[in-house]
Amino acid sequence: MIVRTENAADVVAIHDITLEAFKDHPYSDGTEHLIVGRLREAGALSLSLVAEVEGEVVGHIAFSPVELSDGSEQWFGLGPVSVRPAFQGQGIGSALIRKGLDILRDRAAAGCVVVGDPALYRQFGFENDARMTYADCAPQYFLAQPLSSTPASGMVTFHAAFYGGVDG
Ligand SMILES: CC(C)(COP(=O)(O)OP(=O)(O)OC[C@H]1O[C@@H](n2cnc3c(N)ncnc32)[C@H](O)[C@@H]1OP(=O)(O)O)[C@@H](O)C(=O)NCCC(=O)NCCS
Repeated sequence: MIVRTENAADVVAIHDITLEAFKDHPYSDGTEHLIVGRLREAGALSLSLVAEVEGEVVGHIAFSPVELSDGSEQWFGLGPVSVRPAFQGQGIGSALIRKGLDILRDRAAAGCVVVGDPALYRQFGFENDARMTYADCAPQYFLAQPLSSTPASGMVTFHAAFYGGVDG
């Protein structure tokens, strides 16, 4: 398995993998597959990695910029992350998350946030942090990971394209 940055030929596969991965997800609103395209279109797809097995793209992860109400910069949001169901449970999602965080560190990112299953994301260094909040998300499902020594606090907002907005 290799993890690499996306290229133009991956766009359809990324769409399809995300749709498939979230199809039966209990907390899915059925629109996750549209998020990556909107971020790409808006120039807000800060990092987009695919996992390839024997030449087939089977997994994907996106990172996009987030804003903090305290003015902290260089924070990013992880997601969506998707692995084709037939390939789940083989370490592909973990490899995508680890590689993405490594690249953010190399780029001197200040930190990363994620909304999701705490049991999954704690394995990669994310923790609940009472200093940071996200909309009306239950605190246990909102996790953060500083990637530099600069602390941050306040309300987090994902890029407008993450939610379907066209500007911002
Ligand atoms: C979450 C997801 C990206 C993990 O990718 P993966 O390649 O299956 O994950 P890995 O094999 O690297 O395992 C990492 C962890 O994912 C979780 N996991 C693995 N397979 C899973 C499955 N079929 N369903 C749910 N969680 C699973 C486990 O917690 C696992 O940790 P463990 O090995 O300590 O048990 C993948 O299961 C997926 O696409 N799920 C649907 C979409 C989704 O839920 N995305 C995240 C939204 S917050």
